[in-house]
Amino acid sequence: MNKFYSIIDSPSISSISERLALSSIAATLGKDSVIVEVGTEQGGSAKILSESSQATLYTIDIGDHIYGSTVDRSRFIFFQGNAKAFKNENPDLNIDFLYIDGDHSFGGVREDFDTLYAMLKPGGIIAFHDVDYKHLGVLVFVETLKLFNVITDCILIDTMVIARKPESRSIRFYRNNFFLGIKL
Ligand SMILES: C[S@@+](CC[C@H](N)C(=O)[O-])C[C@H]1O[C@@H](n2cnc3c(N)ncnc32)[C@H](O)[C@@H]1O
Repeated sequence: MNKFYSIIDSPSISSISERLALSSIAATLGKDSVIVEVGTEQGGSAKILSESSQATLYTIDIGDHIYGSTVDRSRFIFFQGNAKAFKNENPDLNIDFLYIDGDHSFGGVREDFDTLYAMLKPGGIIAFHDVDYKHLGVLVFVETLKLFNVITDCILIDTMVIARKPESRSIRFYRNNFFLGIKL
């Protein structure tokens, strides 16, 4: 199948614009780059990322839901478990692009972020899916990161926020603050 339509037809629960955004980001990364995705499900977004890029793609999910002929799992490295277990197995990984689409609760998205953000290179790209009122935990968490400049240069495409890790700011800055009564 034509690569464009292969991306459009991938079994991902995301809009066409979000798929194209993922594909565009991945396409900018060379073969020495690393992409990490949290939340694989059927492998739809993993398919988009892996078909669009020469980078190495690691994709994490607590369950193995990958099936169907459209997803070639040999194109990416699937890790079954959570982000913490993944980090324990890959402590020296330097991530160029981190895509978070796993647990959509405030605590869940925060844990994935806190675990993997330290491995994201300064200036690296981070994207969150489902940043909307249907997923209030994700929305509040991402707004908090924006408020404290933990992520910068944010772009919203449908429900996907794409942002950058600042070159210098420390994550400790937001951990020492309160927001909406929550100790960050
Ligand atoms: C919305 S789906 C991911 C969709 C996928 N990114 C796509 O677009 O094709 C969310 C997935 O996250 C997984 N998940 C939930 N909590 C998780 C966690 N704490 N760590 C890793 N994966 C998790 C679920 O098993 C589910 O498969």
